[in-house]
Amino acid sequence: MFQYKQGKHTTQGHKGIPAGCFEEEQGRKGFFGHVSHLIKEKPSTRWTNIEGPLRPHLFDCVNLPKDFGSWQRLMHNNDISIYYFWESKSTTAKKSFRNADGESLYFCHQGSGEVLTEYGLLSFRKGSYINIPKCVGHSFVCSEDSVFLVIESRTGPFREPDRGMVGRNAFYDTAALKPPDLEALKAHQKKNGANVKEILVKRLDQLTHFAYSEDVYDTIGWKGDFFPFTLHVDDMMPLVSARVHLPPSAHGTFIANGFVVCTFLPRPLETDADALKVPFYHQNIDYDEVLFYHDGNFFSRDNLHAGMISLHPAGFPHGPHPKAVAKTPNKTHTDEYAVMVDVWSPLKIDEQFEKVEVKNYWQSWMK
Ligand SMILES: [Fe+2]
Repeated sequence: MFQYKQGKHTTQGHKGIPAGCFEEEQGRKGFFGHVSHLIKEKPSTRWTNIEGPLRPHLFDCVNLPKDFGSWQRLMHNNDISIYYFWESKSTTAKKSFRNADGESLYFCHQGSGEVLTEYGLLSFRKGSYINIPKCVGHSFVCSEDSVFLVIESRTGPFREPDRGMVGRNAFYDTAALKPPDLEALKAHQKKNGANVKEILVKRLDQLTHFAYSEDVYDTIGWKGDFFPFTLHVDDMMPLVSARVHLPPSAHGTFIANGFVVCTFLPRPLETDADALKVPFYHQNIDYDEVLFYHDGNFFSRDNLHAGMISLHPAGFPHGPHPKAVAKTPNKTHTDEYAVMVDVWSPLKIDEQFEKVEVKNYWQSWMK
């Protein structure tokens, strides 16, 4: 496909933007399809009013009523459901949970502990992804009250992202994926007892209880390439270019059918004088974008705190807040931790989640 250009334009996206002007990317298929960069004298986020259902959303999960032990659904479509999940401190497990609706990717926002599975014991702490494949029974034993974002893939397993020209060890080495430890499970059962005699199965979002007379974590050995694992943000090595801002897809962590999961981590900012340092204004034409603010200082937005979630549906351009643009010349690195979920089919917002919406978020780009 050839490129065509007119008027004031750049020869490299996100770099050499004429002084005082703004670049807006209009791209298909996330950051992989046909794309153009428009140079404008003012950002397209300068709307003066929005009427109708399409708008940027911000939600504060800190204000969700805490319901320990259960999943609170926030948003969903046919491919994905996103939940918030609280688990209280405990030393023993009584129930095993088996998700027959899909894969469960937990991201530990707060807390630490262990997960009992039929394959062995997994350990987690703040910043851990815990990938539990479909129908694998598991029980949380938290060493402190813990909070998770749960990303449920309902139409297929999570896969490694395609790392293209940077090779298979880029961003994270698959050696950093930690498998369950069966010996550690046996040691845990010896120390704390083995009394998990109930399996709770979720199928079609309804729960069924299976009762047993003995502990269900009774595996004495296993082999195969289907098993749960963890991955911690400390084992991820963000890709950077000193010369040009890389797109969010460079931070791709897992892909599934109909969506991708990316992790934004602290990293040095671009050093070329003419390189854009904030996320570029863009119309991500095909995806609804969900961003979970986990920790640190969220430099591209104003008035955000950890535990908030933004949803930027497809259909309008978005980008950094005006104050962030003004602050960037002096910044040398980011210290934000965030999980992004880009979703192909439109997301529906659940009623309980809507109750914690920051209603005037759409006005936050206005001066
Ligand atoms: Fe975006």
